[in-house]
Amino acid sequence: MVKGEQLYEGKAKKVFATEDPALLIVSYKDDATAFNGQKRGTIRGKGVINNQMSNALMRRLEEAGIPTHFVRELNERETLVKKVTIVPLEVIVRNRSAGSFARRYGVEEGIVFSSPTIEFSYKNDALEDPLINSYHAVALGLATEAEIETIKEYSFRINDLLKAFWAECGVTLVDFKLEFGRLADGTIVLADEISPDTCRLWDSETGEKLDKDRFRRDLGGVEEAYQEIMRRLRRQMTSEEK
Ligand code: TMP
Repeated sequence: MVKGEQLYEGKAKKVFATEDPALLIVSYKDDATAFNGQKRGTIRGKGVINNQMSNALMRRLEEAGIPTHFVRELNERETLVKKVTIVPLEVIVRNRSAGSFARRYGVEEGIVFSSPTIEFSYKNDALEDPLINSYHAVALGLATEAEIETIKEYSFRINDLLKAFWAECGVTLVDFKLEFGRLADGTIVLADEISPDTCRLWDSETGEKLDKDRFRRDLGGVEEAYQEIMRRLRRQMTSEEK
């Protein structure tokens, strides 16, 4: 697959055209940002880990019947994906209180919910990704009611699948953010990435944070946490192959 012109550069990834108009190449960077780009840094090796982790998880989700944009891993940092139009919603699923949920409602982090929650943010940097409800999303023409139903159904199924997988790795899936896109025919598929940048992953025994919160909150050991979570994923996948 020939890498064509660069179409887009985001905070953590670049996107390139290919000779096939229906396919794109995503290239993962080591750059990290937080708080809508106000905090910037580099997490050495993050691009490789996020690329490989996201692909491994998306492959599993595909096998379980969730359509994704994933086509093929090209190399350590680059993946061939289906071209989609991104639905401009960040879909956040939570199993425990943390982050903006804990702040917004004035509760401690780590409260276990009896059932998972879902919320949407409007993907709009100028507005700092405000929380939005599904009626507002439909009113603004960001997605149809039917698309939002599909997105919700997929998101909760993804949560069940990922929660079970991470539990096998000795990791609690606290919360995560998903993005969906539309293929040319309108089919909704999971897009973007699933990585320590987009999930809260806590060691099941110690509660140690093994995700981007170490960068956001200046906790130190950022690179080590990314390496540790990837090591656990690999170990689990290898043990399943045997
Ligand atoms: P929050 O508690 O800060 O709203 O974050 C919820 C989840 O979404 C958490 O796993 C981190 C992830 N997330 C992103 O992937 N991108 C973002 O821009 C933000 C704010 C959160």
